Amino acid sequence: MKQQTSDPQTVRVFEELASSRRSIRGFLPQAVEPAILEQIFVTAASAPSNCNTQPWYCHVVSGEMRDRLSAIFTKTIAQGKYSLDFPYDAKYEGVFRKRQLDVGILLYEALGVTREDKEGKRRAFLRNLEFFDAPHVVFIFMPEWGGVREACDVGMYVQNLMLTIRSHGLASCPQTILGYDADSVRRELNIEPQMKLLFGVSFGYEAPDLPENQIVPERAALDEHVQFHS
Ligand SMILES: Cc1cc2nc3c(=O)[nH]c(=O)nc-3n(C[C@H](O)[C@H](O)[C@H](O)COP(=O)(O)O)c2cc1C
Repeated sequence: MKQQTSDPQTVRVFEELASSRRSIRGFLPQAVEPAILEQIFVTAASAPSNCNTQPWYCHVVSGEMRDRLSAIFTKTIAQGKYSLDFPYDAKYEGVFRKRQLDVGILLYEALGVTREDKEGKRRAFLRNLEFFDAPHVVFIFMPEWGGVREACDVGMYVQNLMLTIRSHGLASCPQTILGYDADSVRRELNIEPQMKLLFGVSFGYEAPDLPENQIVPERAALDEHVQFHS
């Protein structure tokens, strides 16, 4: 498509696609057709990158290996045994802390988990390690030499990937927590040590009618994050 002028239908279609992508935390077990699976990753690779370096490396895991990694994570990540390639030491403050808390409250409310319900919170956390029942999970790596710039490239790639997934009528959930046991992922998938794990994205068909899939975390008002200068 070599579109030069604004086409209201294209604008509408894209708005709908972009706003209907949400982090989904409950999937059907049904696998995605292999041809669609491949097509998704072909389209996602149209993402831009600094000097066209394309520093993203994906390992798509399904079937027995998916189950195996989930079982391993219950013995490592779930027990607090971590091996992170990129430390997660951000301490959110002010508005960032508020947004973090707000989305947690939204999710717990949807799940019927109260403030005191430690067991419910733990269960909600452990669902991450079951990939929320998704049949597929993609682990996102970049080369060891990469820095912030390359991480930005990978972020653009992953957004492209999630929108492509959505365009096929599928859903996804990006998950930082899936980067908490990089050593096991590398070992099980036979990945060279120079490849560093950023995070994972579970994906597949959304399970209908789950309360946790109905939440829509708010976005800040435009003037809080955009300034127009002339
Ligand atoms: C890089 C990244 C990592 C995330 N990690 C997790 C995670 O480990 N578990 C989870 O349930 N959600 C995770 N999320 C989802 C965010 O909570 C979610 O994107 C945010 O609340 C906005 O909601 P939305 O994606 O539905 O628009 C992650 C999102 C991103 C972009």
